[in-house]
Amino acid sequence: MRKKIIAGNWKMNYTITEADNFVNEIKDRINTDEVDVVICPNNICLERVSDIIEGTNIKLGAQNVHYEEKGAFTGETSANMLLSVDAKYCIIGHSERRQYFCETDEIVNKKAKKLLEKNIKPIICVGETLEQREKGELYEFISTQVKNALKDISEDDVKNNIVIAYEPIWAIGTGVTATSMQAQEMCKYIREEIRKLYNNAVAENIRIQYGGSVKPSNANEILNMEDIDGALVGGASLTDDFVAIVNY
Ligand code: PGA
Repeated sequence: MRKKIIAGNWKMNYTITEADNFVNEIKDRINTDEVDVVICPNNICLERVSDIIEGTNIKLGAQNVHYEEKGAFTGETSANMLLSVDAKYCIIGHSERRQYFCETDEIVNKKAKKLLEKNIKPIICVGETLEQREKGELYEFISTQVKNALKDISEDDVKNNIVIAYEPIWAIGTGVTATSMQAQEMCKYIREEIRKLYNNAVAENIRIQYGGSVKPSNANEILNMEDIDGALVGGASLTDDFVAIVNY
């Protein structure tokens, strides 16, 4: 039985004071062990949020990492730095990073390997544009994204340490949610691709989230679909809505 994982991706929101107030306000209401709850603040807020959630079941996640160990990479954050604030997860390959910061499949793969080396679990985002969906190109596109992201990653890591987030780009921040059937179909498709790449045990164990305009009103239906093992929540993770989603 796969444990659900609900992660809040704050994106570029909240100062330290705002983060402090918000997490203190919601933390008791999202402190559960029925699902894995992950908060992914911006880098400036990581340490403060880490302190606030210490001693709870809530886990810390980052939104990005560099694939090199250390060195002359101005503005970047290393996996060791994420470890130093006790981050357990890190989002990589988010469509906003692919679109605005030229993050390619190859870079996503390097980042995943670096995180795994440091025992931080990658949340690898994949997802198609509306145009790709309408042209029927989504299956091949998603399959390639998944395959490239997992290149040369061990069966054991894929089975136990990787989370995939299916996030159709047309549903991110638009208020348009994929229907639960569309989300289920693609999460199942990704699971079948993993079955082909690895084996049954890996396919049945890997957790696949849906992301894109998840809100309290649709969380229950989405999270009850057979192949959807959690949610990656953007906008709604910044408000009390996150509490309602975690307690779906
Ligand atoms: P959204 O964002 O919930 O605001 O659509 C999801 C995401 O980008 O991870």
